[in-house]
Amino acid sequence: MQEFFEFGIGTRVLYKHGLAHELGSVIEELGAQRPFIIADKGVVGAGLIEPILTGINAHSEVAGIFDAVPANSSVSVVMECAAAASAAAADLIIAIGGGSPLDTAKAVRIILTFGGHLLDYQGYNVIPDRLIPMIAIPTTSGTGSEVTPYAVIRDEEQDLKLSFASRYLLPDVAILDPLLTRTLPPMLTAATGIDALSHAIETFVSTENSPFSDGLALTAINLIGTHLRTAVQQGENMEARSQMLIAACMAGMACANSYFGVIHAMAHAVGGKFHAHHGTAISICMPHGMRFNSEVEPERYLRIAQALGVSREGRSDAEVIAAGIAAVAALAHDCGLPSRLRDIGVPEDALPDLAATAAIDGAIFHNPREASEDEVLALLQAAW
Ligand SMILES: [Fe+2]
Repeated sequence: MQEFFEFGIGTRVLYKHGLAHELGSVIEELGAQRPFIIADKGVVGAGLIEPILTGINAHSEVAGIFDAVPANSSVSVVMECAAAASAAAADLIIAIGGGSPLDTAKAVRIILTFGGHLLDYQGYNVIPDRLIPMIAIPTTSGTGSEVTPYAVIRDEEQDLKLSFASRYLLPDVAILDPLLTRTLPPMLTAATGIDALSHAIETFVSTENSPFSDGLALTAINLIGTHLRTAVQQGENMEARSQMLIAACMAGMACANSYFGVIHAMAHAVGGKFHAHHGTAISICMPHGMRFNSEVEPERYLRIAQALGVSREGRSDAEVIAAGIAAVAALAHDCGLPSRLRDIGVPEDALPDLAATAAIDGAIFHNPREASEDEVLALLQAAW
């Protein structure tokens, strides 16, 4: 067992069907007068912003809305959004959507609070002090960004995903309202759900795991294994939607304290270069990263397999571990996700560059097994 670990949950989590309608009281508690909304066109188009506006208007007026966040948000989008929020004299940021609007909002708060350029704050613990408050309202069950101290923003100049990490990035409040996830299309439900699964799995084997993150991660793995197929195949099933929203948040809490690994390092490289959906890239890379790591963490991979419902009866440990990895691949397949990098437009000759990028990605430093550039390349080749 570890000699030292750290665990904290800095975000207040509120859960209820229809909770978005009751935002007014939350805003009041935060003492804000000029809430500024950050979303994307999909959220607005699906009508998800209406209950939020109703909830806000019960207390105060909306200072402004920025709904032009793209799927993989970028440095220039953050700077543009921060300028709009500043011009509106915002004193609270409300982010609604998937990982991209939530991460954008976190980064916007840095500029809104301290000024300057986003690139000045890249890295770990660079942000000097507390930020303007934020309410995070996820409409996907995936990133867990509503409870993590991270933001990932694409640098369009370098075609790279930049990581920002600081406890000050944690949203003040997370609103979990499963009704907001009901209309999420099957492919997005699948990709974001598999991303949440990867957070739990990578956290569980990370060098920074702790008994606290273990509990959250194993429960999340079990919930996702049990409910993701139903959420994808029967979007109106609110039991599955609710369990997935809770599972993604639990996985986010786990990885907020215990970080990621080689699977995210590879997916960041693929997403940065080829703009693939993060969850889709994760889904393709996950079985290969799991196989690589299972060789050094067999006990933990046995527990992952059991959390996924794999029986140990009549099987050797190696067979149980292999069955656990196969269960993840089967889940992604059943949810309609592609299984190879070539399926999402990655050419084979791009793999060495992707391996070089992934080998120095921040996520890889907490992987349980050291991964050289050549080893990452071999994993990418297997995934191609
Ligand atoms: Fe992720």
